[in-house]
Amino acid sequence: MDLSDEQWLASWRSEQKPQPEGWSFSDLETRMTETPVPWDIDLVYRTALADATSVLDMGTGGGEFLLTFANSLPRDTVATEGWAPNVLAARRNLQAVGVDVVEYSAPDEDVDSLPMPFPDDRFDLVLNRHESYSPRELARVIAPGGRFVTQQVGGDEAHEIGQWFGEHAELPHVNLAHCARELEEAGFEVTEAEEHVGKYLFNDVAALVAYLQLVPWDAPSGFTVDAYAEDLLALHRETGGGPVRLTQKRFWLRAVLCA
Ligand SMILES: C[S@@+](CC[C@H](N)C(=O)[O-])C[C@H]1O[C@@H](n2cnc3c(N)ncnc32)[C@H](O)[C@@H]1O
Repeated sequence: MDLSDEQWLASWRSEQKPQPEGWSFSDLETRMTETPVPWDIDLVYRTALADATSVLDMGTGGGEFLLTFANSLPRDTVATEGWAPNVLAARRNLQAVGVDVVEYSAPDEDVDSLPMPFPDDRFDLVLNRHESYSPRELARVIAPGGRFVTQQVGGDEAHEIGQWFGEHAELPHVNLAHCARELEEAGFEVTEAEEHVGKYLFNDVAALVAYLQLVPWDAPSGFTVDAYAEDLLALHRETGGGPVRLTQKRFWLRAVLCA
Protein backbone atom coordinates (compact mmCIF):
# COMPACT_ATOMS: atom_id res chain seq x y z
CA MET A 1 0.00 0.00 0.00
CA ASP A 2 1.33 3.40 -0.92
CA LEU A 3 0.72 5.86 1.89
CA SER A 4 0.38 9.57 1.31
CA ASP A 5 2.84 12.00 2.87
CA GLU A 6 0.21 12.93 5.43
CA GLN A 7 -0.25 9.27 6.40
CA TRP A 8 3.51 8.83 6.84
CA LEU A 9 3.67 11.94 9.00
CA ALA A 10 0.76 10.67 11.11
CA SER A 11 2.56 7.35 11.69
CA TRP A 12 5.75 9.18 12.71
CA ARG A 13 3.80 11.51 15.01
CA SER A 14 2.63 8.46 16.94
CA GLU A 15 6.29 7.80 17.84
CA GLN A 16 6.52 11.11 19.73
CA LYS A 17 6.52 10.45 23.46
CA PRO A 18 7.95 12.10 26.56
CA GLN A 19 11.38 10.66 27.36
CA PRO A 20 10.91 7.77 29.81
CA GLU A 21 12.88 7.64 33.05
CA GLY A 22 15.68 5.10 33.37
CA TRP A 23 18.12 4.14 30.64
CA SER A 24 17.09 1.37 28.25
CA PHE A 25 16.63 0.90 24.52
CA SER A 26 14.69 -2.35 24.95
CA ASP A 27 11.52 -0.85 23.45
CA LEU A 28 13.45 -0.47 20.19
CA GLU A 29 14.90 -3.99 20.27
CA THR A 30 13.20 -5.20 17.09
CA ARG A 31 13.49 -1.88 15.25
CA MET A 32 17.11 -0.87 15.73
CA THR A 33 20.46 -2.66 15.81
CA GLU A 34 23.95 -1.43 16.68
CA THR A 35 27.33 -2.84 15.69
CA PRO A 36 28.67 -4.56 18.82
CA VAL A 37 31.85 -2.96 20.15
CA PRO A 38 34.95 -5.17 19.72
CA TRP A 39 35.70 -5.20 23.44
CA ASP A 40 33.78 -6.78 26.31
CA ILE A 41 32.85 -3.92 28.64
CA ASP A 42 31.17 -6.36 31.05
CA LEU A 43 34.44 -8.22 31.44
CA VAL A 44 36.35 -4.94 31.80
CA TYR A 45 33.98 -3.87 34.61
CA ARG A 46 34.05 -7.30 36.33
CA THR A 47 37.85 -7.45 36.22
CA ALA A 48 38.10 -3.94 37.67
CA LEU A 49 35.55 -4.73 40.40
CA ALA A 50 37.34 -7.92 41.45
CA ASP A 51 39.76 -6.10 43.77
CA ALA A 52 37.94 -2.81 44.33
CA THR A 53 36.87 -1.75 47.82
CA SER A 54 35.27 1.68 47.26
CA VAL A 55 33.47 2.22 43.96
CA LEU A 56 31.67 5.09 42.28
CA ASP A 57 29.44 4.63 39.21
CA MET A 58 29.02 7.99 37.45
CA GLY A 59 25.82 8.83 35.56
CA THR A 60 24.14 5.61 36.54
CA GLY A 61 20.88 6.41 34.67
CA GLY A 62 18.23 4.34 36.44
CA GLY A 63 21.00 2.07 37.74
CA GLU A 64 20.13 -0.63 35.19
CA PHE A 65 23.67 -1.32 34.01
CA LEU A 66 25.20 -1.15 37.52
CA LEU A 67 22.61 -3.65 38.76
CA THR A 68 23.94 -6.25 36.31
CA PHE A 69 27.11 -6.25 38.49
CA ALA A 70 25.19 -6.42 41.79
CA ASN A 71 27.00 -9.58 42.91
CA SER A 72 30.43 -8.06 42.27
CA LEU A 73 29.97 -4.71 44.02
CA PRO A 74 31.81 -4.01 47.26
CA ARG A 75 29.72 -2.85 50.22
CA ASP A 76 31.07 0.68 49.69
CA THR A 77 29.53 1.47 46.30
CA VAL A 78 28.00 4.85 45.47
CA ALA A 79 26.43 6.20 42.26
CA THR A 80 25.90 9.69 40.88
CA GLU A 81 23.07 10.80 38.64
CA GLY A 82 22.26 14.28 37.39
CA TRP A 83 18.97 14.06 35.49
CA ALA A 84 16.20 14.58 38.07
CA PRO A 85 13.79 11.83 36.86
CA ASN A 86 16.65 9.35 36.95
CA VAL A 87 17.88 10.42 40.40
CA LEU A 88 14.56 9.11 41.73
CA ALA A 89 14.59 6.01 39.50
CA ALA A 90 18.18 5.15 40.46
CA ARG A 91 17.44 5.60 44.18
CA ARG A 92 14.43 3.29 43.86
CA ASN A 93 16.33 0.64 41.87
CA LEU A 94 19.65 0.69 43.74
CA GLN A 95 18.26 0.84 47.27
CA ALA A 96 17.88 -2.97 47.32
CA VAL A 97 21.63 -3.46 46.77
CA GLY A 98 22.64 -0.78 49.28
CA VAL A 99 23.99 1.73 46.73
CA ASP A 100 23.44 5.41 47.62
CA VAL A 101 22.69 7.78 44.76
CA VAL A 102 24.14 11.29 45.00
CA GLU A 103 22.85 14.04 42.73
CA TYR A 104 25.68 15.24 40.48
CA SER A 105 26.60 15.53 36.82
CA ALA A 106 29.59 17.31 35.28
CA PRO A 107 28.15 20.03 33.03
CA ASP A 108 29.07 19.21 29.38
CA GLU A 109 29.91 22.88 28.66
CA ASP A 110 32.39 23.16 31.56
CA VAL A 111 33.09 19.85 33.29
CA ASP A 112 35.28 21.51 35.94
CA SER A 113 32.66 24.05 37.02
CA LEU A 114 30.95 21.79 39.56
CA PRO A 115 33.08 19.95 42.16
CA MET A 116 32.25 16.29 42.62
CA PRO A 117 30.38 15.93 45.96
CA PHE A 118 33.05 13.70 47.53
CA PRO A 119 36.18 14.24 49.65
CA ASP A 120 39.73 13.75 48.34
CA ASP A 121 40.94 10.14 47.77
CA ARG A 122 37.42 8.77 48.34
CA PHE A 123 37.40 5.90 45.77
CA ASP A 124 39.76 3.23 44.46
CA LEU A 125 37.61 2.63 41.35
CA VAL A 126 35.41 4.99 39.35
CA LEU A 127 33.22 3.49 36.62
CA ASN A 128 31.64 5.64 33.96
CA ARG A 129 29.64 4.48 30.95
CA HIS A 130 28.53 7.27 28.64
CA GLU A 131 28.73 10.11 31.16
CA SER A 132 30.74 13.35 31.11
CA TYR A 133 33.48 13.81 33.71
CA SER A 134 36.13 16.22 34.91
CA PRO A 135 39.65 14.70 34.79
CA ARG A 136 40.73 17.21 37.43
CA GLU A 137 37.96 16.19 39.82
CA LEU A 138 38.59 12.50 39.16
CA ALA A 139 42.24 12.98 40.11
CA ARG A 140 41.03 14.50 43.38
CA VAL A 141 38.40 11.90 44.41
CA ILE A 142 40.38 8.83 43.28
CA ALA A 143 43.07 7.67 45.72
CA PRO A 144 46.64 7.35 44.34
CA GLY A 145 46.90 3.99 42.53
CA GLY A 146 43.11 3.96 42.04
CA ARG A 147 41.53 3.40 38.63
CA PHE A 148 39.11 5.08 36.26
CA VAL A 149 37.30 2.92 33.70
CA THR A 150 35.08 4.55 31.10
CA GLN A 151 33.30 3.76 27.86
CA GLN A 152 32.29 6.86 25.95
CA VAL A 153 30.14 7.73 22.96
CA GLY A 154 32.31 9.52 20.40
CA GLY A 155 31.27 13.18 20.40
CA ASP A 156 31.10 13.33 16.60
CA GLU A 157 28.95 10.23 16.04
CA ALA A 158 25.63 10.43 14.18
CA HIS A 159 26.86 13.36 12.06
CA GLU A 160 24.26 12.34 9.44
CA ILE A 161 21.63 14.01 11.64
CA GLY A 162 23.22 17.35 10.77
CA GLN A 163 23.04 16.52 7.04
CA TRP A 164 19.37 15.50 7.21
CA PHE A 165 18.04 18.14 9.61
CA GLY A 166 20.54 20.99 9.24
CA GLU A 167 21.71 20.82 12.86
CA HIS A 168 23.40 18.36 15.17
CA ALA A 169 25.07 19.15 18.48
CA GLU A 170 28.54 17.62 18.47
CA LEU A 171 31.27 17.41 21.10
CA PRO A 172 34.22 16.80 18.73
CA HIS A 173 36.73 16.79 21.60
CA VAL A 174 35.11 13.65 23.02
CA ASN A 175 37.44 11.20 21.30
CA LEU A 176 40.04 8.78 22.60
CA ALA A 177 43.16 10.82 21.78
CA HIS A 178 41.87 13.98 23.46
CA CYS A 179 40.38 12.23 26.51
CA ALA A 180 43.54 10.15 27.09
CA ARG A 181 45.69 13.32 26.87
CA GLU A 182 43.45 15.19 29.33
CA LEU A 183 43.60 12.33 31.84
CA GLU A 184 47.37 12.13 31.52
CA GLU A 185 47.63 15.88 32.10
CA ALA A 186 45.55 15.40 35.27
CA GLY A 187 47.99 12.78 36.60
CA PHE A 188 46.67 9.47 35.24
CA GLU A 189 48.45 6.83 33.20
CA VAL A 190 46.20 5.32 30.51
CA THR A 191 46.93 1.59 30.62
CA GLU A 192 44.53 0.24 28.00
CA ALA A 193 42.27 1.85 25.41
CA GLU A 194 40.44 1.15 22.18
CA GLU A 195 38.29 3.07 19.71
CA HIS A 196 35.57 1.81 17.39
CA VAL A 197 33.46 3.09 14.48
CA GLY A 198 30.27 1.19 13.65
CA LYS A 199 26.67 1.74 12.59
CA TYR A 200 23.23 2.12 14.04
CA LEU A 201 20.66 0.59 11.73
CA PHE A 202 17.03 1.66 12.11
CA ASN A 203 14.28 -0.29 10.32
CA ASP A 204 12.83 2.93 8.93
CA VAL A 205 12.26 6.63 9.63
CA ALA A 206 9.66 5.76 12.29
CA ALA A 207 12.30 3.86 14.28
CA LEU A 208 14.70 6.82 13.96
CA VAL A 209 12.00 9.17 15.31
CA ALA A 210 11.41 6.76 18.23
CA TYR A 211 15.17 6.70 18.93
CA LEU A 212 15.39 10.50 18.99
CA GLN A 213 12.76 10.55 21.76
CA LEU A 214 15.20 8.55 23.93
CA VAL A 215 18.30 10.64 23.14
CA PRO A 216 16.87 14.17 22.76
CA TRP A 217 20.39 15.71 22.71
CA ASP A 218 20.97 13.97 19.35
CA ALA A 219 17.89 15.60 17.80
CA PRO A 220 18.01 19.09 16.29
CA SER A 221 16.61 21.80 18.57
CA GLY A 222 12.81 21.89 18.76
CA PHE A 223 12.58 18.53 17.03
CA THR A 224 9.02 17.41 16.30
CA VAL A 225 7.69 15.51 13.31
CA ASP A 226 5.78 18.61 12.19
CA ALA A 227 8.73 21.01 12.60
CA TYR A 228 10.96 18.68 10.51
CA ALA A 229 8.26 17.18 8.24
CA GLU A 230 9.97 18.07 4.93
CA ASP A 231 13.36 16.70 6.09
CA LEU A 232 11.77 13.48 7.37
CA LEU A 233 9.85 12.96 4.13
CA ALA A 234 13.04 13.61 2.12
CA LEU A 235 14.90 11.01 4.23
CA HIS A 236 12.02 8.56 3.78
CA ARG A 237 12.23 8.98 -0.02
CA GLU A 238 16.03 8.78 -0.04
CA THR A 239 15.95 5.48 1.87
CA GLY A 240 13.00 4.11 -0.13
CA GLY A 241 11.08 3.56 3.12
CA GLY A 242 13.78 1.09 4.19
CA PRO A 243 16.62 1.08 6.71
CA VAL A 244 18.23 4.30 7.94
CA ARG A 245 21.92 4.24 8.90
CA LEU A 246 23.75 6.44 11.41
CA THR A 247 27.45 6.38 12.27
CA GLN A 248 28.18 4.96 15.72
CA LYS A 249 31.39 5.83 17.61
CA ARG A 250 32.65 4.38 20.87
CA PHE A 251 35.86 4.23 22.82
CA TRP A 252 36.89 2.90 26.19
CA LEU A 253 39.92 3.34 28.41
CA ARG A 254 41.34 2.28 31.74
CA ALA A 255 43.52 4.77 33.59
CA VAL A 256 45.45 4.54 36.85
CA LEU A 257 46.10 7.58 39.04
CA CYS A 258 49.85 7.85 39.44
CA ALA A 259 50.95 7.67 43.08
C1 LIG B 1 23.68 7.78 28.42
S1 LIG B 1 23.15 7.59 30.05
C2 LIG B 1 24.07 6.17 30.61
C3 LIG B 1 23.52 5.52 31.85
C4 LIG B 1 24.37 4.39 32.44
N1 LIG B 1 25.69 4.86 32.84
C5 LIG B 1 24.50 3.24 31.48
O1 LIG B 1 25.59 3.05 30.93
O2 LIG B 1 23.52 2.53 31.23
C6 LIG B 1 24.14 8.89 30.70
C7 LIG B 1 23.41 9.88 31.50
O3 LIG B 1 22.50 10.63 30.74
C8 LIG B 1 21.39 10.91 31.59
N2 LIG B 1 20.24 11.38 30.82
C9 LIG B 1 19.31 10.66 30.21
N3 LIG B 1 18.39 11.46 29.64
C10 LIG B 1 18.75 12.73 29.91
C11 LIG B 1 18.22 14.02 29.59
N4 LIG B 1 17.10 14.16 28.89
N5 LIG B 1 18.89 15.08 30.00
C12 LIG B 1 20.03 14.96 30.71
N6 LIG B 1 20.58 13.78 31.04
C13 LIG B 1 19.95 12.68 30.65
C14 LIG B 1 21.20 9.61 32.28
O4 LIG B 1 20.31 9.71 33.35
C15 LIG B 1 22.62 9.27 32.65
O5 LIG B 1 23.05 9.91 33.80
